Amino acid sequence: MDDAGTKPWTWTLPDGHASSDWVRYRRRLETVAADRGFELSALGTACAEPLLMLRGGATSPSAPRLLVASGFHGEEPAGPWGLLEFLEAADQALLSRVRLTVLPLINVTGFRAGTRLNIHGENPNRGYLGLPGENPSHEGRQLLAHRDLLLEAGRDGLLTCHEDVLLSHGYVYSCERAAAPGAFSRTLLAANAAFFPVHADGAVDGCPIAGGIVFNHHDGSFESWLMELGVARAACVETPGQHPIERRIAAQRAMIETFLNFAPDLGD
Ligand code: NI
Repeated sequence: MDDAGTKPWTWTLPDGHASSDWVRYRRRLETVAADRGFELSALGTACAEPLLMLRGGATSPSAPRLLVASGFHGEEPAGPWGLLEFLEAADQALLSRVRLTVLPLINVTGFRAGTRLNIHGENPNRGYLGLPGENPSHEGRQLLAHRDLLLEAGRDGLLTCHEDVLLSHGYVYSCERAAAPGAFSRTLLAANAAFFPVHADGAVDGCPIAGGIVFNHHDGSFESWLMELGVARAACVETPGQHPIERRIAAQRAMIETFLNFAPDLGD
């Protein structure tokens, strides 16, 4: 997920719309927010586009608090579309068990253009930890400015939805406060593996990978930042861009559902 490619990538969705159709995306998001009782707002503006947020689900203060974020990279559209389809079709009983916050599409300018980076050539998933040579993107600065809100929203778990456009195999980055991958990591990987062959052991994007999982990798990403701040666990799921877009969207939707379903087992 780290290649700073500039080539545009778009696909045609089953309904005939382009995967880069932001107007269509936003309209469906507004509809689902109204239909499912989610509060739709904007954290702020980045690159002249709104950084949208939906909040809903359980109202009990003891309910698990989960954060799902997608669309950091514009050439990875299955995450935002899968998240939208999840919200449209999710079982109400599942939604009512968790306090859910969703950042559906971080990098709107990249999504519209089908490019990994935003319109300023910045990577919206780097620069969160002030590592040498990394500066936050316009989107990242908005997220950094809402640290307390995001930490509370993802207190019991964070999921980010990515793709690896050049690959044919699925995999998962996961972070747990443990020495080895536990049920959280393995359950998400199994959901990915229901759709795609799993990435071979060895390395992916310079990270060691075993059993389809890159475990406790630390970099300047949004996931690493929130883990450092204190969220209980985090994962970044990767669908392979060499498979049809509809399968990738279905896989993202299934992994988001898996992530929410895992929540009742938190603290076991
Ligand atoms: Ni990515």
